[in-house]
Amino acid sequence: MTSELGRRLARRIAVAGPMSVAEFMAEALGHPTLGYYRRALPIGADGDFTTAPEISQMFGELLGAWLAERWQAMGRPSPVRLVELGPGRGTLMADALRATRGVPGFHGALDLRLVEISKPLRALQETVLSGYRPAWHERFDDVPEGPLLLIANEFFDALPVRQFERTAHGWNERMVGLAPDGTTLAFALSPGPSPFARLLPAALRDGDSPPGTVAEISTAAIDLANRIAARLVQQRGWSLIVDYGRDAPAAGATFQALRGHRPVDPLERPGETDLTAHVDFAALAETARAGGARVFGPTGQGTFLRRLGIEQRADALKGRATAEQRDAIDAALARLIAPGQMGTLFRVLAMGDDRSPAPAGFSDET
Ligand SMILES: C[S@@+](CC[C@H](N)C(=O)[O-])C[C@H]1O[C@@H](n2cnc3c(N)ncnc32)[C@H](O)[C@@H]1O
Repeated sequence: MTSELGRRLARRIAVAGPMSVAEFMAEALGHPTLGYYRRALPIGADGDFTTAPEISQMFGELLGAWLAERWQAMGRPSPVRLVELGPGRGTLMADALRATRGVPGFHGALDLRLVEISKPLRALQETVLSGYRPAWHERFDDVPEGPLLLIANEFFDALPVRQFERTAHGWNERMVGLAPDGTTLAFALSPGPSPFARLLPAALRDGDSPPGTVAEISTAAIDLANRIAARLVQQRGWSLIVDYGRDAPAAGATFQALRGHRPVDPLERPGETDLTAHVDFAALAETARAGGARVFGPTGQGTFLRRLGIEQRADALKGRATAEQRDAIDAALARLIAPGQMGTLFRVLAMGDDRSPAPAGFSDET
């Protein structure tokens, strides 16, 4: 049995023909009333997935220290727009702000702006962040002008991707159509090569991939990176993007669905299932550089957090913890930084203006 949104999309496809995977993903996550992020409380043990700030307070605390350092490096602008894209339960921001209370002048300068489409999550954010008087926006572009500090953890992976498949004739687009029963959603290929395939990285598009190879691109992610970089360059500021993804152009289908922490068919119950795709960090970095921003990374989350001192922070927390709590801190630390876990799967990318010194956590400008 599909969902209410699944039935509506099937009716639309019956009339208007197949839709791109990107259109499907945008509807399934963002439909004004039935989209996944409009109605569900997805994050945490009872939800569909868990994120780094929900694993340990150390994550938000260290990102807070990174932001405060960037603010100082920028010459302590006041006000500064502190923007989080997709703040989830508000945990990351609450930990970041608690950890930076002692930075002279920082909190007084902050103007907190949360970009969030989920009403249930906005309500949670309000409970944990009300002391900082946040304002909410539907879109990044609605954030008022001015110097910017921006973070986004597991936000870009929710932006729609197009998928292409190599055929004997070129790159056809993978579409969402209907199965022979006329009601079940099913993948289908565009009848001919897709004009949108020109957007794929040249190395991939023009390489000799065998038929059946799948490649993805998120024009929404590239467009957003472009707009963020333009603001950082024009109005000063720094941003930090953390997500799972790849550092270089690569083939492969990463569009996937999770429900109750388990992988499921992405077409099965749209609106009731989390949909994600790996972030193409190479494309984001290239876009930001082309827009004149300085770019650092992508680097592994484990390396980044170790450089910021997560092991020392874990030791400090363990110093005043029970034996059981010490075990929990060690387990959380391993999940966040161990290779093969989030430590290498998750990548961190910083972009910023060219008037401040290099940020902490990265070895070199890239
Ligand atoms: C995977 S959750 C990550 C939450 C949080 N950053 C964390 O690390 O726990 C994605 C967040 O982005 C929000 N979101 C998803 N798509 C969005 C969009 N197009 N515009 C604004 N917010 C969006 C969701 O409601 C949610 O808060």
